[in-house]
Amino acid sequence: MTLIAIAWDDDAGRDGRGAVRLLDQTLLPGTTAYREIVTTDELVVAIAELAVRGAPALGVAGALGVVLAMDEGAREGWDDARVQAAVDRVRHARPTAVNLAWGVDQVRPLMGRGRDAVLVAARRVATEDEAANRELSRLGADWLLARIDRPRLRVLTHCNTGSLACVGYGTALGVIRAAHEAGRRPSVWVGETRPVLQGARLTAWELQRLGIPCTLVADSMAAALMAAGEVDAVIVGADRIAANGDVANKIGTYGLAVLARHHGLPFYVAAPRSTFDRDTPDGSAIPVERRDAEEVAVVGGRRLAPEGVAVENRAFDVTPAGLVTAYVSEDGVTRP
Ligand code: MRU
Repeated sequence: MTLIAIAWDDDAGRDGRGAVRLLDQTLLPGTTAYREIVTTDELVVAIAELAVRGAPALGVAGALGVVLAMDEGAREGWDDARVQAAVDRVRHARPTAVNLAWGVDQVRPLMGRGRDAVLVAARRVATEDEAANRELSRLGADWLLARIDRPRLRVLTHCNTGSLACVGYGTALGVIRAAHEAGRRPSVWVGETRPVLQGARLTAWELQRLGIPCTLVADSMAAALMAAGEVDAVIVGADRIAANGDVANKIGTYGLAVLARHHGLPFYVAAPRSTFDRDTPDGSAIPVERRDAEEVAVVGGRRLAPEGVAVENRAFDVTPAGLVTAYVSEDGVTRP
């Protein structure tokens, strides 16, 4: 039942040394297909195309990318500088989710001990991420259910923060999943998450597979749902949480936080420790990824906007800490 977004496969690869196997999220939900990745360039492309995405999964991609660079270097006869340059390309493949650089940095210091030591450490990044997700989900669900006294919890979420965004469980979706597993029958408003529809394509699919009742809504419907009293809480994930508590997450998150405050609703952010970045003082220092105009102008392969129109495509926004009711991590639930 559990989807593994990314893992090292010992039996794959051209030279029997293994390969990164990732579920191609660009094809979901219509097609379940895997990409076998043997070069750092292929990994950088997969990250840029969002074949693998979501902050925790990107952390694993970063760590496994170091193994790929070492294997590729050995195969191609690269010197150390070239191997390090390949690692850097992976580290910078997307700028906002701190987990990607964090994942690289977890294993890079071990390169001197050899590729097998790096692989063991990279696999540990994956197993520890799943354990952290499960723990934060349990803590978050307990906390939420103790505070919202309704027979059915109605949660609104954004983007995809489930198994697909992590290694095997989820963060914000993990909290919802843990509430469901605790028998509290949550129901979920799933924001479609324009422009590339991680909510509609991925979250709705994951929730269906888990048997958790969900309803897909256009992003622009959130205000009306809240005004009608049909939302009890908003819960989202994060790509980077700055030292002051400002939160970078999928574009549209900030708007939901403003709406939640206006309607007196709690706004929760669920993320593992690896997403908290003490080196970034506040949200203004978080690099926000700008993506291709086509993602906005073209929908489902069909151009809807006129040729030549200017398009702005910011992939993330920053929610000020003051709008966050609480953060949920494997360390517990904390206030800003
Ligand atoms: O562009 P994406 O799909 O990588 O964006 C993902 C998100 O914004 C998620 O909410 C975030 O990474 C948390 S995933 C647990």
